[in-house]
Amino acid sequence: MVKQITSGLKMLQTKNLLKKYTAIILCCIFVSFNILSSEPIHSISIDYGYTPAQKEIAYGENGMITTQHFLATHVGEKILNKGGNAYDASIAIAFTLAVVLPRAGNIGGGGFMVIYDQDTQKSYSIDYREKAPQLSQRDMYLQENGSFNNQKLSTFGYLSSGVPGTVAGLWEVHKKFGSLPWEMLLEDAIYYAKNGFLITDFMADVLYEYNEKLSYFDETKAIFQKNYPNFKDKKLIQNDLANTLKIIANKGRDGFYKGEIAKKISSAMKDNGGLISLYDLENYEPVWREPLQSEYRGAQIITMGPPSSGGVHIIQMLNILQNYDINALGHNSSDYINLLTEVMKHAYADRSKYLGDPDFYDVPINKLTSPLYAKTIFNKIKLGTSLNSSKVLPGMYMDDESHETTHFSVADKYGNVISSTYTLNSTFGSGVVIKDTGILMNNEMDDFSAAPGIPNQFGLLGAKANEIVPFKRPLSSMTPTIVMKDGKLFFTTGSPGGSRIISAVLQSILNIIDFEMNLEEATFAKRIHHQWQPDILEIEFSISENMYEELESIGYKVKVSKPLTCIQTIMLNGNTFSGYGDFRRPDAYASGAIND
Ligand code: DON
Repeated sequence: MVKQITSGLKMLQTKNLLKKYTAIILCCIFVSFNILSSEPIHSISIDYGYTPAQKEIAYGENGMITTQHFLATHVGEKILNKGGNAYDASIAIAFTLAVVLPRAGNIGGGGFMVIYDQDTQKSYSIDYREKAPQLSQRDMYLQENGSFNNQKLSTFGYLSSGVPGTVAGLWEVHKKFGSLPWEMLLEDAIYYAKNGFLITDFMADVLYEYNEKLSYFDETKAIFQKNYPNFKDKKLIQNDLANTLKIIANKGRDGFYKGEIAKKISSAMKDNGGLISLYDLENYEPVWREPLQSEYRGAQIITMGPPSSGGVHIIQMLNILQNYDINALGHNSSDYINLLTEVMKHAYADRSKYLGDPDFYDVPINKLTSPLYAKTIFNKIKLGTSLNSSKVLPGMYMDDESHETTHFSVADKYGNVISSTYTLNSTFGSGVVIKDTGILMNNEMDDFSAAPGIPNQFGLLGAKANEIVPFKRPLSSMTPTIVMKDGKLFFTTGSPGGSRIISAVLQSILNIIDFEMNLEEATFAKRIHHQWQPDILEIEFSISENMYEELESIGYKVKVSKPLTCIQTIMLNGNTFSGYGDFRRPDAYASGAIND
């Protein structure tokens, strides 16, 4: 009954003003009903201690946007309502997030976009990941004796940045698929940078928490710590960034990679021990790559290939899981957690050895994603037992012949779908703002393997496949994914969360396909994570004493963790899109387009 009222209500919200008022009245009825009802639809905010900004699923028949900041969502909505397509909206969203979500949104970082294009009825992916500067060296983060230099050189300051790819990537997407003028797509970002926007409670907490990191460099402090310690209800104004965005609006890609902005980046690098040069900037190129595709229970998975490891391991894990009746195990039952954990261990072990930039290393994609290889791993997994991670070796069944990112999803009324994850890597990246530009730089060099056996900030290990080489791209876990069924969008998803991105995207696919959850349930469901090394099973939020004992008896070291992922999913049912902003980052928001 409640569900019927909810969905009836949502359909009404999308059309016109009159309908909007009707929806508001119905909403009041719905809210009172919900308060009076003895059984709330979900008691998530009680269980999890988070109050979502998104109170209910958003519905729309003319497109849908979900991002990690409601202002970026509204900008995307505006672009779709003006008749723009999903590409236009995504570009405008990415530039807006660079302003309103500076912890992750960026022009100083990079990312990936997976696309389904209705006109050509084909899928595409673009890699606009950062690249190692020309002067980088394999052992640049090691001391002379070969041990890791613990000065945080790979995660903080000028030396930690790779050559940014975001502006070049967005420009490339605009040239190939865009329909509105480029300048128009930057208007809102420039507006929010110049006039400022209100700092939310959540953002105020983050700025406070990162006081030390954001105070080390004067340029960064002047922008992000001006109001310390009271950020709440203040405006964040970024004048230099507004000017940089204006130059990019006028000159396109060259506004960033050539001329005054490029000179400012390269001279700030030179003055402060960084490596990025004018040559690196001028020569940066994003790459169109074939997305990876596979079938899972009749749905078509379209996802990002290397230099992201996400797609390879999503397909590898789904291939193994395909052999089980997952639904019969019960969602988050100890058997289900046992199965997922064993599957994840094998995938992450393989990641540590075989994954890297395909332009520099021959990644055995076909082998890792082959059903035969999955079957071999399946044959080794025995439910009720666990393999100690030290016994799981990368590729052990292969025959030898052989803590900040953000995701947004956009679907338009024309049938185009975009799933994009981009990042500065850590929260606020390297902590460096390039003087007079407002550009916050990434610390993506930490995603390389500094040396075998030395974990990066996410605890991930790597080897030759992911060693530092000039112009190479560091291995990523970002997993923007589109799932189609019978030639139409089923859903699209993705998340931030470093190494946890892959396991979060996997569970969002299983929640929707195997457990037939709706978007709200699929988003709320607790996630688990195991990445082989360290040998720890992470479970979000809390766990009952019984479950704890059961999992320990199988052999797991269980750790209850804070939520570190945030999925942004859009689904299509019939002709109606639905979207939901993950409550784990309370400013996340989904909204439908109204234009028809
Ligand atoms: O590309 C990667 O895998 C990482 N740089 C992503 C970092 C991240 O998701 C941090 N977010 N919470």
